[in-house]
Amino acid sequence: MASEAKHGETGENIKRIRLETVDSTNRYLKSRILEGDRVRAAVTAVNQTGGKGRMNRVWRSPPGGLYLSLSTPLAENVPPVAFPVQAAIAAATLLYREFELPLRLKWPNDLQLYGQKICGILSELVHSSSGIAHAIVGIGLNANAGIVLDDAFNKPIWLAKVLAREIDVDRLGDLLAADILAQWDRLDEASMETLREQWKALSDTLNRRVEVRTLRGTIRGVAVDLSPEFELRIRPDDGGPLVAVCEGDCRSLRPDPWEKT
Ligand code: BTN
Repeated sequence: MASEAKHGETGENIKRIRLETVDSTNRYLKSRILEGDRVRAAVTAVNQTGGKGRMNRVWRSPPGGLYLSLSTPLAENVPPVAFPVQAAIAAATLLYREFELPLRLKWPNDLQLYGQKICGILSELVHSSSGIAHAIVGIGLNANAGIVLDDAFNKPIWLAKVLAREIDVDRLGDLLAADILAQWDRLDEASMETLREQWKALSDTLNRRVEVRTLRGTIRGVAVDLSPEFELRIRPDDGGPLVAVCEGDCRSLRPDPWEKT
């Protein structure tokens, strides 16, 4: 059960909700949307008892991490994928602005620092009782604690470890929520190509040999491009035609020393 510390408005029509403990900030927003109409909100919690990760994983959420979820009704002509992509770019940009840290993106939307995962993003699509489609984007950022991930592909790293000082998680949550909501407001059809270019410029996945595990199997090959739909285009090792994957877990593989170039 959520304990609600305070409610406030951080901007026009935006509800800023700070929770002490909740099962999951994503689930919290989902129930608000199911019982509401148009829910534009940013929710943080000090800790989560049932944090959700991608691919049905658990996101362990002790105090010290940033647990932030944002929701907005979908904009006309803006594909849902734009919302988590914009959030990932905003988070990388903010962490560079605040701490001069060179964040990179691992497909689909993990943030990595020095090759290690520092932040994960879980996006969901939910319809309100009146049928309005909403995006929910949940961000888990290792701030003062490193989360040990179930996902064996990823080693955690956390801000306090790198910067050798404590991070004001509340302030970081406010800044990130404000940036993301402002940028979501500006999304339109024409933004998609810009987002794709920004994602590619920050990518630590493209032009690498990767392994992507999807619910339908595993693909190994070179990540050659990001499609306009934000799928990862892979040239498979087996010489088959290009494959486009829209979901999965991705890891970089070391170049095979025996491989012919
Ligand atoms: C991933 O698997 O990499 C995505 C992790 C997303 C975790 C965040 S923490 C805030 C929000 N609430 C959740 O239950 N999950 C997301």
